[in-house]
Amino acid sequence: MIVRPPRDAEDEQIYEVNRLAFGMARDPRPEHLWSNQKGKYGLVAELDGRIAATLKVVDYQQFFGGSTVPMGGVANVAVAPAARGHGAATALLDAILPEMMDRGQCVSALYPSVPPLYRGRGWEQTGNYEHALLRPEQFASLVKPGERVAMRRATEADLPALHDCYVRFARTVDGMLDRSTPAFELKKVLEQDIVEVVPGPDGTVRGYLTGRRPEGDNLMIDDLIADDRETALGLFANLGRWAGVVHQISLRITDPGWWQLLVVLPVFQDVRNHPWMLRVVDLPAAVAARGWPAAAHLTPTSVDMEVIDEHAPWQAGRHRLTVDGGKVICAPGGDGTVRLHARALGPWFAGSADTAMLRRTGLLEGDAVAARVLDLLTGAPRLPRMADSF
Ligand SMILES: CC(C)(COP(=O)(O)OP(=O)(O)OC[C@H]1O[C@@H](n2cnc3c(N)ncnc32)[C@H](O)[C@@H]1OP(=O)(O)O)[C@@H](O)C(=O)NCCC(=O)NCCS
Repeated sequence: MIVRPPRDAEDEQIYEVNRLAFGMARDPRPEHLWSNQKGKYGLVAELDGRIAATLKVVDYQQFFGGSTVPMGGVANVAVAPAARGHGAATALLDAILPEMMDRGQCVSALYPSVPPLYRGRGWEQTGNYEHALLRPEQFASLVKPGERVAMRRATEADLPALHDCYVRFARTVDGMLDRSTPAFELKKVLEQDIVEVVPGPDGTVRGYLTGRRPEGDNLMIDDLIADDRETALGLFANLGRWAGVVHQISLRITDPGWWQLLVVLPVFQDVRNHPWMLRVVDLPAAVAARGWPAAAHLTPTSVDMEVIDEHAPWQAGRHRLTVDGGKVICAPGGDGTVRLHARALGPWFAGSADTAMLRRTGLLEGDAVAARVLDLLTGAPRLPRMADSF
């Protein structure tokens, strides 16, 4: 088996492996062909002169602590049926790790359908991607905004302001993408059935809805983003006005604020989740890129970490994490007081697991008092979210 980058002429073979794996349409849309995709690169495994397996990485920036961290989003992991069970997918994961490291993608996220495959190479479950299935009438029981909230269909001129509105929200929730890398084309949003903005002063956007209205009784809302309570209530009131025709609204939970604190929840909620996994690819670079809001409130301290990571050996070994003057730096050295296995790094970095959880699951050992500093830094345990799947 040869693992190598794909060639343009192999577009159709690559699509065929993915079509069989994921049940995609028989005829590819042009944008589904790899050579037409921006901000992406990949690897294939060749067996007997044919493409037997594929893996793609999409260039993203993910918010942690209010700053963006370069993230490689792993997608299209697919193996031709006859080639399965011989380590092809694992070989692609092994080969992509140094590639992501070289490209400065210091963390990597993916949506697993087969978690054991990725756990074996250091990814671990970290965050949620959720949809709630609701009836439009459920919005009718919400408090109405004090004044009617004016909305209009977005035009191309609104797109930068719409994106600013998204980023103002996204930087406050760990795990959200900044949607500014080449994989995102702002204009694409105008292809949606629903792209309604709440205009603010001076060409700004205070909130917006995006979504799709497929044939039938359903409405699918992707983004419901609002700067403030009144705007959110206005957007919810607008969703309530679909009552009568639409039987179900599938609402992506972008903002945990409105989901937890504004929406009146029925006793049993139908929420669908596709959890995502995270892996740290380059620990010192990831620490340098992330924001550490808690560090400003900590007295100078340090934690000595020993990382056990046979699949990313460049970050294995001893690191000293120093907290001083609101900054956090990860440099080689120290006594290895707290030992973290590769799979601990993603949940620790994102704050989704505290060190007690990591210890109970065999992913962390060593000094418990020193380890507490690792929790204080990230605010663990807390739930990271993403609102884009790939
Ligand atoms: C999942 C898939 C990519 C695995 O490819 P593969 O080359 O057979 O995987 P590997 O041989 O490298 O498997 C390594 C380990 O992953 C785990 N694994 C692989 N497939 C699995 C499955 N379907 N369910 C649970 N674990 C699985 C096993 O632990 C396996 O080790 P083992 O063979 O010693 O038990 C392949 O079956 C496929 O293309 N499936 C359809 C598409 C898909 O689900 N892709 C993943 C998208 S996230």
